[in-house]
Amino acid sequence: MLSEQEARDAIIIALDCDRETALDLADKLSGKAVWVKVGMTLFYRYGPVIVDDMRSRGLRVFLDLKLHDIPFQIRGAAHSASLCGADILSIHGLGGAAMIAEGRAGVEEAAAERGGERTRLVAISVLTSMDADALASIGVTDELSSEVARLASLAVGAGSDGIVCSPQEAADMRALLGPDALIVCPGVRPAGAELGDQKRVSTPAAAIAAGASKLVIGRPITHAADPAAAFEAIVEELMS
Ligand code: C5P
Repeated sequence: MLSEQEARDAIIIALDCDRETALDLADKLSGKAVWVKVGMTLFYRYGPVIVDDMRSRGLRVFLDLKLHDIPFQIRGAAHSASLCGADILSIHGLGGAAMIAEGRAGVEEAAAERGGERTRLVAISVLTSMDADALASIGVTDELSSEVARLASLAVGAGSDGIVCSPQEAADMRALLGPDALIVCPGVRPAGAELGDQKRVSTPAAAIAAGASKLVIGRPITHAADPAAAFEAIVEELMS
């Protein structure tokens, strides 16, 4: 059970939409929500201005750009993303320890330049769109769960602040990574909500109980007739 402020702070609203809709949602949620997620679709079209749009409405930003390139490039990319206002930034565990360490160096440099809190890094382990066959097709023959655990440990050991994983993996990942890791979980549905294309889901309360630090929730809020009321209902669930 969370306090009201903890509950608000635990929810990241995924803005998978165009800028106009994102601004409308941000206006409706500002003062209530703390976090939004800006992904590649929105960022590649509108650029850093979309992050400014959110921050000027008092919202913090999870910039989900899933960085993956050579270490030198990732240092620059993480530095740039941090300067443009990302509070949390995603990076691919598959890029390896050297790449993640340079990503960490990039966000540290940016924090030293602009002052304030350092951008937190969260690593993607295995994309949830991949199954064992898809992994085997790229040469990974280990069990999927072992691959997830290996990449999660590698990423956090190399300087990532945490990982992104499904709520079903949250308890194992919390046990593996310890109490300080930032564990961000998409695939969350309030009881009775439409699943859409999500298959392995947990309720918000169950995901937090399993050890998630933050929940990425999109359509149950953004497609609701009253997004602010849908958000408040999830806050209530996390407080009870
Ligand atoms: O609308 P919905 O709540 O399903 O949105 C979940 C968000 O989390 C989307 O932005 C989606 O891209 C993201 N995500 C996911 N599953 C993952 C990783 C990210 O649904 N494994």
